[in-house]
Amino acid sequence: MIDTSLRRKLSVTVAVGLLLTSGCQGPEEAPAPTDAIRIPLDSFAGVAVESMTIEAGHSTVSYSYPRVAASHPLMSEMRTRMAERRTEFLEALPDKGSPELRQDASFLAVSSQVVGARITSEVSSGVQKDSENRTLWYDASSQEVLPWTSLFTDEAALEQAHLAVVRVLQEEHDVPLQQLPGLLGEVASRADGAQATEEAATEEGGSSSGENQEVSSLEEESRDLSDPEQAAEVAQDWAGSPLEDLAFSAAGGLAVNMAPGEVPQASGGEEVVLSVEAGSVEGFVSELGFTARDAALGNHAEDGAEFPLEDSLPEEGIGMDCARLKCVALTFDDGPGEHTGRLMDILAEYDARATFYVLGRLVGEFPEILQRMDAEGHELGNHTWKHDDLADMSAEQVRADITRTNEAVREVTGSEPPTIRPPYGSLNDTVSGAVEQPLILWDVDTQDWQSRDSGKVADHALAHSETGSVVLLHDIHEQSVEAVPEVLEGLHEQGYHFVTVTELFGLDGMDSGEVLTDARMG
Ligand code: NI
Repeated sequence: MIDTSLRRKLSVTVAVGLLLTSGCQGPEEAPAPTDAIRIPLDSFAGVAVESMTIEAGHSTVSYSYPRVAASHPLMSEMRTRMAERRTEFLEALPDKGSPELRQDASFLAVSSQVVGARITSEVSSGVQKDSENRTLWYDASSQEVLPWTSLFTDEAALEQAHLAVVRVLQEEHDVPLQQLPGLLGEVASRADGAQATEEAATEEGGSSSGENQEVSSLEEESRDLSDPEQAAEVAQDWAGSPLEDLAFSAAGGLAVNMAPGEVPQASGGEEVVLSVEAGSVEGFVSELGFTARDAALGNHAEDGAEFPLEDSLPEEGIGMDCARLKCVALTFDDGPGEHTGRLMDILAEYDARATFYVLGRLVGEFPEILQRMDAEGHELGNHTWKHDDLADMSAEQVRADITRTNEAVREVTGSEPPTIRPPYGSLNDTVSGAVEQPLILWDVDTQDWQSRDSGKVADHALAHSETGSVVLLHDIHEQSVEAVPEVLEGLHEQGYHFVTVTELFGLDGMDSGEVLTDARMG
């Protein structure tokens, strides 16, 4: 129900709020107080921006995302969302033209308590352009990544927020009720109906509160938006809402971005930012919403400021959530070698991460190659000291060999390999009982060391890889490295992402001494 007296009270606050803020704005080039606050990714000293363009066949995908710390749940969620979108785009690729997907990110608010992020996604193919923008909110106290709905107190508040947007469309853009786009139209007619019922009830002389039997569907199932799961559920139900792309404005209100074409009266091809005044926002914003607004208004993005969340990050984390994605882990054994550097150049063209099962005895020969692997996000694995068959050894010998190799790697990169690949895939109970790392085999054996034929290697990998596959290759053979561009291009065009073994199985998906071949679902 709409409480009109409350709304009137709030609009008084609005005027005051606007006056105060406009007084603070500098005279030169300052953004209008109604503009959305958006903070570029590179505003912080500790944030590296990854930008990538992958051209394969007739399609192009490009994206940029922040790299603060791999363990940041928000960063992982952003990358996962972008990866999902990329797969969706590639799987539905038209076979003509030059379709392109461009995804970018910015921050909406940054403080030690909350970080808001916005992902924009634009598909263009010839003349047609479609854009879709999403926002995510990271709450440092719960370490949860939350949807936009968490910024509101409850579903009645969501309804109110949408009505506020409707009013802006009606009053400032002359959009008649019948032309309100999608959800806004539904909300507006619902409110219209409710008001009519209320008026009718008042005319009959009865009090409209309390006994009114016509309860709107909303009130029956009012869900708790401070609960992450319920907030996500509600966000699903409100999919397509313009509030999915909301930011805070310099005046402390909401700045709601409407995609081109969404506002019927706006001149074609332009996006329109609707400004909802601060006063009308305050009535329905949750505690997190207020914290987020403070963070947006505080704008911590002064040149070179540190990204404020480092200390509150969980200890461990991974880059992408492969439980939700088409992931493949490419693994390269027996190196490093003279072709490994070129291989990393090729992987970089596809933003691909791989896992290198190195021999301990070679580590000292190629320290800079190992450091580069580490710096570029690849994973190092333990392939024993000199490729001996672990199944021929005593538990003590196994431990000594594995430990020696672990330490060699740690000396160069600072951390021990998280997994082991036993040479020849040979192992027994003694081996798995002796080691502390999981033992990783494979489900796709390219036989590259035997065939030494790039074409055959690529064909095999393309024909047999599926979601969750671990592909076995050897970077010491030139023909294997030469097969990689074709493997990457072919799998990329099918919507696959190339991840490390740890990302593929997930941190909780691996135990000490456990033997794993793949993470396929079926
Ligand atoms: Ni090997």
